[in-house]
Amino acid sequence: MNTVKTVRELRAAVARARGEGKRIGFVPTMGNLHSGHAALVTKAAQRADFVVASIFVNPLQFGANEDLATYPRTLAADQARLLEAGCNLLFAPTVEEMYPSGTTAQTRVSVGQLSEGLCGASRPGHFEGVATVVNKLFNMVQPDLAVFGEKDYQQLAVIRTMVRDLNMPVQIFGEPTVRADDGLALSSRNGYLSPEQRQIAPAVYRTLCQLADGLRRGRRDYQALLDEGKTQLQSAGLRIDYLELRHALTLQPAMLDDRDLVLLLAAYLGNTRLIDNLYLHLDEPTA
Ligand code: PAF
Repeated sequence: MNTVKTVRELRAAVARARGEGKRIGFVPTMGNLHSGHAALVTKAAQRADFVVASIFVNPLQFGANEDLATYPRTLAADQARLLEAGCNLLFAPTVEEMYPSGTTAQTRVSVGQLSEGLCGASRPGHFEGVATVVNKLFNMVQPDLAVFGEKDYQQLAVIRTMVRDLNMPVQIFGEPTVRADDGLALSSRNGYLSPEQRQIAPAVYRTLCQLADGLRRGRRDYQALLDEGKTQLQSAGLRIDYLELRHALTLQPAMLDDRDLVLLLAAYLGNTRLIDNLYLHLDEPTA
């Protein structure tokens, strides 16, 4: 697996693979890779002949008080993990390579309504930063397909919408969240948790599962159910950003006749923001 740092080298390597008739798969990341990322690469390798991954901690998607400066940079370990997972080429550009005119002058991509609530409300500008960098990366790599984790549920919805609305010739695949044995969704930010916080963190997924069970058993008092979930998480020591039940595709608040639903949660343990979600299909309309 080669590592390249410039767009010119990236394009040359991808052009060679294309010249050999290979289908190009792409996995964009911010590094500090874990088994969840490896699963994305494995998925890409199953569906493409040549897999490109990128590692770029994108300043455009971090708010002023967020962890851009401290976000873990672990290139050597990431390279080993990517190689093992079947990656053929790593693109690891500098900020200057990605934003040669600076981040302020950069043209932005904004994906309207879907970007506004949930994480978009708590992290203004976040999804514009994500859509912009993913758009640029797609233009640089020009992949046939790209794979994203379903853990970032709203991000995946934003990217699918961008690709559809801008007629981008890239097939998007979502890959299920990889979890630790105790249910905690793997995340590059889990490393910020103290041992005590790490003990508490599985309450997130446990609570989502309990709420989903309630819905499957016929509970339709959505707000009361979500309030119970919030109380449970707060008692465990989490500070809730949001806990919502939404339509799985539109991300609009769930209606009683919706069948495809998603529970979405963001909560803080100390300064660490955890997000998770749980999709559920109800066989009968909820009304
Ligand atoms: O999910 C991530 O790691 C990032 O948001 C992404 C998609 C690589 C864009 O920077």
